[in-house]
Amino acid sequence: MTESFEAALSARIRSFEGQTPLQALSCGGPIEPSPMTSLERFPYYRAFPFAWYFGAYSDDVAVGDVKTVRWLARDLVVWRDEEGAAHVMDAYCPHMGAHLGYGGRVEGCNLICPYHWWEYDGDGNNVRIPYADQPNRKARVRSYPTIDRNGLIMFWYHPRGDAPIWEIPELAEANDPTWTPYMRGEWDVRCPWQEMAENGPDYIHLRTVHGAADVPEVESLEYDGYLSRLRSKVNFSTPRGPQAGRIDTDSWGPGFAVARFSGITPALFVNLSTPVDWETTRSIKLYKLQNLGDSDEARTRTERVGDALVRDLRRQMEEDIVIFDHKVWVDPPALAPDDGPIVRFRKWARQFYVDGDPIAADRGKP
Ligand code: FES
Ligand SMILES: [Fe+2]
Repeated sequence: MTESFEAALSARIRSFEGQTPLQALSCGGPIEPSPMTSLERFPYYRAFPFAWYFGAYSDDVAVGDVKTVRWLARDLVVWRDEEGAAHVMDAYCPHMGAHLGYGGRVEGCNLICPYHWWEYDGDGNNVRIPYADQPNRKARVRSYPTIDRNGLIMFWYHPRGDAPIWEIPELAEANDPTWTPYMRGEWDVRCPWQEMAENGPDYIHLRTVHGAADVPEVESLEYDGYLSRLRSKVNFSTPRGPQAGRIDTDSWGPGFAVARFSGITPALFVNLSTPVDWETTRSIKLYKLQNLGDSDEARTRTERVGDALVRDLRRQMEEDIVIFDHKVWVDPPALAPDDGPIVRFRKWARQFYVDGDPIAADRGKP
């Protein structure tokens, strides 16, 4: 980014007394979303991208629990067997269509349908019919590969049902007692994952939307298969003045990204995007800080830093949502030289869309 551009942009932002109109909107309560459908606004959105997606918080699904969730325009159940393994499956029994999440029960490593008590293993195979000698081998519930890690039950979705192409990493901070528990933020956003993720390489908006005084200086941005790695230096503004630090962000495909802040109080951000249906994406942001020490005083200080950080990130998300809920897809985008690598990002994002999901079969067809 050129010096003169930085200066010019900063000058323009400084000329704004108080909030921008967008910032005022963002804290003025709910706004009507766009009246257009997601397909009208984002013609590329004819398939849900394949990815590991958030299914539930590990703590919310105890041994023997069967929870109902709705992700990817499907009714699903998340359940935990008596050996402790978590499973994510379609909700409807292939026998006569009962919902496994309403009255279904776990016995051993199987889930039993509430209607006629057919029994399914963690892979969704029918393994027992209480009034027949044989299970019905054709009766299968679609099950999704599941990873229960970092306090999150994540499931793999692929439109054709292909096996996972990558894994979800273990985050060292997730179970480290010297770090705070997750602080959570959740939003329902009226656009696909891709529109939100484009914020990452869009450095300019940090100033124009969020009024950031300092924009991270990008050291490198790599797109490597399903992975993206952004390495950047930033001057954090702290009560004691600017402090040099880093923000390093890794994305494992569309559903799961992790950013680490260092230089100030070390912080971890986990960014989860899961389609609820075609119109809505749930954005979950989890924050964790390294405790500033063991004493009560240090704990209070950590809490204060955490509160400030979370407040700031919430404000930023509320500002972004005004854009996300109303924008459309422009392709190709009309870019200026200092815009971030938007075209590279879009090329990377494109690989995650494939056909094959029956739910999407008629999408985009005349
Ligand atoms: S509908 Fe599930 S056992 Fe009959
Ligand atoms: Fe943003």
